[in-house]
Amino acid sequence: MEKRRQEFEYFLFDSFEELSSEHQLLMSSAIAARKDAYAPYSKFQVGAAVLLENGKTVIGNNQENASYPAGVCAERVAILHAGAKYPGVEIKAIAISATSENHQVDKPVSSCGICRQSMAEYEQKQKAPIVILMMGEIGPVIQCDSVLDLIPFAFDGSFLN
Ligand code: THU
Repeated sequence: MEKRRQEFEYFLFDSFEELSSEHQLLMSSAIAARKDAYAPYSKFQVGAAVLLENGKTVIGNNQENASYPAGVCAERVAILHAGAKYPGVEIKAIAISATSENHQVDKPVSSCGICRQSMAEYEQKQKAPIVILMMGEIGPVIQCDSVLDLIPFAFDGSFLN
């Protein structure tokens, strides 16, 4: 038996203003996308923006449902939107921002496990890492340089071969 340790590095920015100008622009698109979220149940509006290698940006936001599990998170709406609209175009980064009608979101929103799995699929498909930027409404921003860092032991297509 051997005991193993897995570590990963990430960047913690004190605020949006500390991001690179490219990432500020991407996060601005995620922030703008929040307003079109359909979140009548949670009142928690999330926006996501995907930056593609061809320079295009594709957005998404959470789309809820009266049957709660049928709702879809912003990250998946955005990344599936990118896959549908620009198939085969490499994804460079995804920015996510959240706001709430109930409280001020002052810490970076953390993507759920299903979204991590969905994003990891695209990273593996393109064989290149996707940068993930997470923020609330105000406050710090977390930058991870690979989605796979956020989902150790991800299930992938190799199990199906
Ligand atoms: N949500 C997202 O869209 N992304 C996240 O990273 C966290 C959660 C949505 C799902 C649901 O519509 C609402 O936020 C509350 O869970």
